[in-house]
Amino acid sequence: MVVIQEPLSALLAILLLLYLMKRWWSHQHYPPGPLSLPIIGSIWRIRFGIGLNERTMIKMSKQYGNVFTLWLGDMPIVLLSGFETVKEGLIDHSEELSGRASSPYVKFIGKGKGITFSNGDLWKQQRRFAVGTMRKLGTGRKSMESQIEVDAQKLVEIFAREKGQPFDPALPIINSVSNVTCIMLFGHRFPLEDENFKELIDAIECTFKFGGSPVHILFELFPWILKRLPGPHMKALESIKIMFSLGKKEILKHKKKLSSREPQDFIDHYLLHIEKEQKNDPTSIFDEDNLAHCISDLFIAGTHISALFMQWAILLLTNRPYIQDKIIKEIDDVLGSSSICYEDHKQLPYTNAVFHEIMRYRYVVLIGTGRQTTKDVNIGSFFIPKETVVIPDMYAILHDPQHWETPEEFNPNHFLDKDGNFVTRKEFLVFGAGARLCLGEHMGRMQYFLFLTSLLKAFHLQLPPGVKELSEEIVIGTLLSPKPHKICAVPRESSSKSIQNAIDSELTN
Ligand SMILES: *[C@@H]1O[C@H](CO)[C@@H](O)[C@H](O)[C@H]1NC(C)=O
Repeated sequence: MVVIQEPLSALLAILLLLYLMKRWWSHQHYPPGPLSLPIIGSIWRIRFGIGLNERTMIKMSKQYGNVFTLWLGDMPIVLLSGFETVKEGLIDHSEELSGRASSPYVKFIGKGKGITFSNGDLWKQQRRFAVGTMRKLGTGRKSMESQIEVDAQKLVEIFAREKGQPFDPALPIINSVSNVTCIMLFGHRFPLEDENFKELIDAIECTFKFGGSPVHILFELFPWILKRLPGPHMKALESIKIMFSLGKKEILKHKKKLSSREPQDFIDHYLLHIEKEQKNDPTSIFDEDNLAHCISDLFIAGTHISALFMQWAILLLTNRPYIQDKIIKEIDDVLGSSSICYEDHKQLPYTNAVFHEIMRYRYVVLIGTGRQTTKDVNIGSFFIPKETVVIPDMYAILHDPQHWETPEEFNPNHFLDKDGNFVTRKEFLVFGAGARLCLGEHMGRMQYFLFLTSLLKAFHLQLPPGVKELSEEIVIGTLLSPKPHKICAVPRESSSKSIQNAIDSELTN
């Protein structure tokens, strides 16, 4: 036995040594970072050391610098922190960082199709088409802005139905925001009580909750095992399927109607494009599968994130009635009683500054979907090889003490000069930057502005009786949400009559 065991252990020792040397060697190619252990990498540092929250990366960058590597098993993830570094990465090296990280989970759900999770030529073409189509849909008689105004008014009516009593605004807000996205994508809206709608919202929530969870990390480490086991990752997968089947149903409905009408929404335009492309090029990458992925990508991006910004806005403003009053005064002084349109934001510097400050103070994305380098690239003094996952820490930029006077305080002056003019801040990277800049920025801004001004014109947002303050604590997930809460929307005198009329007319309809 002894004779056999000795060479065996010697062999094992040599193999282990070779393995460690290989690991050490491969780690030399990447920026430094916390100690990486075999198999699990350095993710343990987050779970068991620093804790996962919106400040995790800020704390790590203090220790390891503005460019550092975290190892997820043997997959390196390079993190960028600080405005200058992120700008250098996303803007100066926009092309090199335009890839989308394809981790095992991303491959599992995204299949490399659509816009968010695709890469290369396919991504470029789908994105270009989506940008162009959204622009087309944004102009013309039934423009996006007038649609958004309709939805803003509906939201005001729904708030008014609560008659100033405490209620949780979360569901009406998400319904309202998703109505805007649905009009653009499908050409119709969903009633709040619709089963399809509820299923869809739950599905999206489920995928967001899964992102960053311990099981998600296990999935990235051991995909081949997890794919065969039951668990929350299967529920997340199920949710994706729900989104696709809804998309496919809509595609089918649109195909039936399309021959008899002008294209009205995203699906119509895409279907026509498929037809056109396939005539010229049978290998075209425009097909119904990609369309279904585009639908779910645009829907996911267009609803939960915008809705969360809106929820935070309502919460923060409810805690700060004096800011609501200042906004209303500005609107009254500048616009009088005439109705408000998006263009008006240029004349309302204080209102605009408050709305920007809300997005800065309570930015809603914990860790954005990673990029992937398409070429070798140097950022700062660090070399990052081709096909490395890179994640910029947007939260840190929006709270960087070198760039904001009071990063941890809600302070509209961050966006005002001393004469009260609105100032654009280059550090305001809420919509991202570079090649993967948010597609829906214009629509998102319009919606945010019109929804909030409509609500503020109609209501005093107030704390429920007996409540001193709403908690501004952040609930950590892939997205950063507020705790569930209730508010009271008490009609302002000037507006209560017109709202009452609106309700009456709805009741008689
Ligand atoms: C969304 O649209 C549906 C259908 O038009 C409507 O019933 C519902 O009230 C809308 N929801 C909101 C919050 O505006």
